[in-house]
Amino acid sequence: MSHAPQPLGAPVVRREGREKVTGTARYAAEHNAPDRLYGWIVPATVTSGRVTAIRTADALAVPDVHTVLTHENAPSLGETDDPILAVLQNARIPHRGWPVALVVAETLEAARAGAEALHVDYETADHDVVLTADHPRLYTPEEANGGFPAVRERGDAEAALAAAPVTIDATYTMGGLHNHPMEPHASTARWTEGHLTVHDSSQGSTTVRDTLSKAFGLDGSQITVLSRHVGGGFGSKGTPRPQVVLAAMASRHTGRPVQVVVHRRHMAALVGHRAPTVQRVRLGADRNGVLRAVSHEVATHTSRVKEFVEQAAVPARVMYASPHSRTAHRVAALDVPSPSWMRAPGEASGMYALESAMDELACALGVDPVELRLRNEPSAEPDSGRPFSSRNLAACLTEGARRFGWHGRDPQPAAREEGPWLLGTGVASATYPVLLSPSAASAHAAQDGSYTVRVNATDIGTGARTVLAQIAAAALGTAQENVTIDIGSSDLPAGSVAGGSSGTASWGTAVHKAATALVRRLGEGGTVPPEGITVTADTEEEAAEESPYARHAFGAHFAEVAVDSLTGEVRVRRLLGVYAAGRILNSRTARSQFIGGMVMGLGMALTEGSTMDPAFGDFTESDLASYHVPSCADVLDIQAHWIDEDDPHLNPMGSKGIGEIGIVGTAAAIGNAVRHATGARLRELPLTPDKLL
Ligand code: MOS
Repeated sequence: MSHAPQPLGAPVVRREGREKVTGTARYAAEHNAPDRLYGWIVPATVTSGRVTAIRTADALAVPDVHTVLTHENAPSLGETDDPILAVLQNARIPHRGWPVALVVAETLEAARAGAEALHVDYETADHDVVLTADHPRLYTPEEANGGFPAVRERGDAEAALAAAPVTIDATYTMGGLHNHPMEPHASTARWTEGHLTVHDSSQGSTTVRDTLSKAFGLDGSQITVLSRHVGGGFGSKGTPRPQVVLAAMASRHTGRPVQVVVHRRHMAALVGHRAPTVQRVRLGADRNGVLRAVSHEVATHTSRVKEFVEQAAVPARVMYASPHSRTAHRVAALDVPSPSWMRAPGEASGMYALESAMDELACALGVDPVELRLRNEPSAEPDSGRPFSSRNLAACLTEGARRFGWHGRDPQPAAREEGPWLLGTGVASATYPVLLSPSAASAHAAQDGSYTVRVNATDIGTGARTVLAQIAAAALGTAQENVTIDIGSSDLPAGSVAGGSSGTASWGTAVHKAATALVRRLGEGGTVPPEGITVTADTEEEAAEESPYARHAFGAHFAEVAVDSLTGEVRVRRLLGVYAAGRILNSRTARSQFIGGMVMGLGMALTEGSTMDPAFGDFTESDLASYHVPSCADVLDIQAHWIDEDDPHLNPMGSKGIGEIGIVGTAAAIGNAVRHATGARLRELPLTPDKLL
């Protein structure tokens, strides 16, 4: 074969790009079968209580309606690891939007009409949906998301704060945020001769297969879950969602393929959200800006169904040197939909608060905010004392300042005008942990010199196929064009979830090991037999290993904003991110991921916000007309750069994760720029015009 090997890091174009732009890439709801039925989820229209009766006659009388599944006739599920999946099992309503029925029909329109004709009677109970910092139901959980201890204390933060010559005590709040991937959650399920095949819009179909196997009492070998193309997830597809269980249930019940797509308006209730937080940050410093104490206390909500605790105080355990520290989480179980992972859970919320507080400290001291951060660089990870495998936050700040033109910035707020616009600049740091999950992969050499690599990775829009081909090709010593990559099926060697910015590291390590072992086998001589040679490998050992190093990616975000002094509108004129994330394996797709994260951070700063209505008992922004994600006109000049890192303590590729760090700290950089532009310190996201006037 004739292609020249390309080095890791080359801007290789996406393998499936052509399929995607020509519309031939098929997503979970696009696997047509002539006898396919459509399921429509009927959401509870009360916030708390129980279903007392479901009258189905009118729904069943709608032409083409086939079946109505309710808790009275739905198949009983076995074990469900995740209680949000125990749908149609009983009459209880834990939150508004909880599925109370699935109407199954020959057409989507009939299913929807059937759902409208269904009569559901409820007995309602009082509900409680609004998080406050002094909510009586707040308690300290054992752990926050990610297995982090809820509370960590070093030294005596209270005493150190009391003694510090300069202190900041500020509380930052944000409402819920919703993932809203472009492709809604969707599943098409079919049973054929005891085998269940599901096309699911998921970030990890091995997990979906394992979950269905328990819920339906099947052996894993009786289930195939396919996620060949996925239109985004941002964490909301990191765990199976109710539609996959409902589609499988309905297909078993009817004996026909059934497709269930979660309506955009039902997503806020069914696919998780970033929980609201109230975060109190206290910083104590000496007059040079050297921190003596950091206290970060988080209050957040979870649902009545399961405990999920947004780990927003965790990044404060990583960021800055301080002899005294307290980081703590409390949570209240309210009658709200279950929160879950949303891009950089913990870091995105927590670094908004911490990095805003650092800016407040810089202002209070009259120290440049870049300089303040440099003065508090730790020599080891503050919380654990472990050395960093690599930490180039200082380089990101310095290089970012240079590229942005930060030097000579006049710290005076509200000092730059341009007609009605007030201009300002802000900075914030970013961090995200380096994670690795167990994955397996196989590498196959064919007689003709081509290779096939199999791993159940998921490409959620990141370019996973492409980067895995690059990793395999580099290990095999061939061009990536000679490597076929097979991903997106639970029948392949088990892969970890495309989440935690860990996909490339986890799958890539397994691919690298399998490919390296294959090269060794081929080098042992002899000819390749007609059936080829296959070698498998996994990363169980690497994933279980406790590293002696603290491993994190770092970054710095710089923003320039213009605030309209008449309307209160904030425009982000420039956004720059500089990252230190190990070795960048594909400069083209990496840049897209960084920029995508920054755009999402811009949305978090300015437009995305979900209001919990105390009377209605749910989020009010349930569609994209009311929940505003940035559009092209909101994103004027956005740039991502990186510092080359050579870190031998990571994985064979030397890479750190890049999927999430782009959203971390971005909102703080923008908020800090708004403060510089206007002099107004706002502590509640999003920074909508009403708050600025
Ligand atoms: Mo991401 S929130 O880890 O899918």
